[in-house]
Amino acid sequence: MEIVLISDGPLPLDSPVRKLPFFFPARLIDMSKVSAETVGDGKVAVIELLDATDVGLKALKASWESIAEIPVICLVSQKNRKEVIQAGALGKTETLERDAPFALLLRRTKTLLKADVCKVLPENTPSRTVEAYKSSNAFLESLCLSSAEGSKIRVTLMNESAEEMFAALSSDGWAAWLGAVQTHHSGTYSHTLRVAGLAGMLARHLGWSDTVCKEIIAGGLVHDIGKMRIPLSILDKTGKLTKDERVLIKRHPMFGRDMLKSRLEVSVDIKRMAIQHHEYLDGSGYPDGLAGDRISPKVRLITVCDIFTALTEERPYKETFPARTALTMLKDMGPKLDQKMVAQLGSMLFGQQLGAVSRLSAQSKGNAAA
Ligand SMILES: [Fe+2]
Ligand SMILES: [Fe+2]
Repeated sequence: MEIVLISDGPLPLDSPVRKLPFFFPARLIDMSKVSAETVGDGKVAVIELLDATDVGLKALKASWESIAEIPVICLVSQKNRKEVIQAGALGKTETLERDAPFALLLRRTKTLLKADVCKVLPENTPSRTVEAYKSSNAFLESLCLSSAEGSKIRVTLMNESAEEMFAALSSDGWAAWLGAVQTHHSGTYSHTLRVAGLAGMLARHLGWSDTVCKEIIAGGLVHDIGKMRIPLSILDKTGKLTKDERVLIKRHPMFGRDMLKSRLEVSVDIKRMAIQHHEYLDGSGYPDGLAGDRISPKVRLITVCDIFTALTEERPYKETFPARTALTMLKDMGPKLDQKMVAQLGSMLFGQQLGAVSRLSAQSKGNAAA
């Protein structure tokens, strides 16, 4: 699912191509170094012609065979005749206007990649789950787009996705949701969808109101928004992360704070879930070292579901633990986590049929989310 970005030297600062690595795993190749080896199994090539020199273009033309088999998009300015002629001289490429809205380049790349997330869903996925999966993916992509462009977060789409996920989880159950999200090509997106689903299930199990459950699901969808400032080639890296990459990833709650501070359309509770989900009750978490009552029940719930998901999901660079082992690990974290919530997660996962998690009795309703 990787794309290759080709430019003569570093990508120009104002090139829209710089935004693509936040949507797809991408590799930058210098125009003079294009070869079968550097292109590897890249599925789409995007060429930035801004500031390309004759020497660079000549080298690219000479090695054209290496990308001849994959779709190629050339970014040009129609006002710049030289660029248009250069693109024509390269051969069979499609051209896109550099100054057009970034969403056009994004949509075209996605189409060429055939990145239709629903195509690979298991055949027996219930229709409500398919719809919820579609809309929550659409929301995550819009979230990434608003992060790239600094534009408003599409709260209506977020609420619709939460509503549909809540309906799907209630009728089709956790197993159907898990079966769908596991097929996602990006481990990062799959993680977010799992956390949102599990958090919604746990909130429901705790007897929290439907409105709060949907807010928790929305919070789950937004919780790692800060990761949208980190290229997918780092987030979805199959090898071991370097120290610098680990440091960068650990900064995502701070990126989230920065991205959400001016977003008045997002509720304070959802912002907290995104900024504080790595805080621990004993004050040893990050970014602010908050402790005890300063961490709300909604945030505690996201934290528990986030860690459980990270432990149990399959990622190439880390060990995957069975659910029971992961639960024991959460228990072993003792005062860092809300252990009542950990116990409820255990009773939800192992005490009942997961396909039809029912609500707790009325007397426990609303206790934690109040
Ligand atoms: Fe996170
Ligand atoms: Fe997370």
